[in-house]
Amino acid sequence: MKVLAIYGSPRKDGNSAKMMEAALSEFPPEAEIHRIFLADKNFAPCCAERHCLELGYCDVEDDMQEIYKELFWAEVIIFATSSQFGDVTADLKALMERTWPIRGKLKNKIGGYVVSARRYAESTLNTLHAFMLRHKMILGNSGAVAYTVTENGGLENDGLAIKDSRKTGKRLVELYNLIYNK
Ligand SMILES: Cc1cc2nc3c(=O)[nH]c(=O)nc-3n(C[C@H](O)[C@H](O)[C@H](O)COP(=O)(O)O)c2cc1C
Repeated sequence: MKVLAIYGSPRKDGNSAKMMEAALSEFPPEAEIHRIFLADKNFAPCCAERHCLELGYCDVEDDMQEIYKELFWAEVIIFATSSQFGDVTADLKALMERTWPIRGKLKNKIGGYVVSARRYAESTLNTLHAFMLRHKMILGNSGAVAYTVTENGGLENDGLAIKDSRKTGKRLVELYNLIYNK
């Protein structure tokens, strides 16, 4: 089982990262888990010059090249993001834009997400859903959302945050086993 965990928050040990770890804790020991912290990566949003239309791939030489390889490798892709200005983080949105040239290549990969927010996360969820559906990924479930959680902490105040993160992991494993006949 090839699992790619993409951490979108600038805070590598923040709330959404903790939720991601809870989701990953449900995967069996044989699962191969690759982690990408976008905060460590250097890549730009889409330049919209449309070179990719002729080339069939994105030729912008930055860390997205390594991320493309990981996206192709994965069978299960999980996103963690904080809600920032009501949406996914800028890094995660940039990654999403840069997947435009690989439309069709993420088809049938299993997808899930965990989101931490202080209060407003509706558009964050819409963006994640739209991304996965546009790529014809298989959206595992409704994901996990933590509310009333700030940079000062508070995950423990939302009794469902970690519980739902685990449920998300569990559901992705269940779906994997169903699809791959395990
Ligand atoms: C620049 C910025 C913008 C934010 N905007 C929102 C927002 O629109 N809605 C919200 O619910 N929380 C917002 N927050 C709060 C974070 O989503 C919240 O603290 C989250 O739990 C942080 O997760 P992390 O520890 O994984 O980074 C914002 C935080 C930052 C730094």
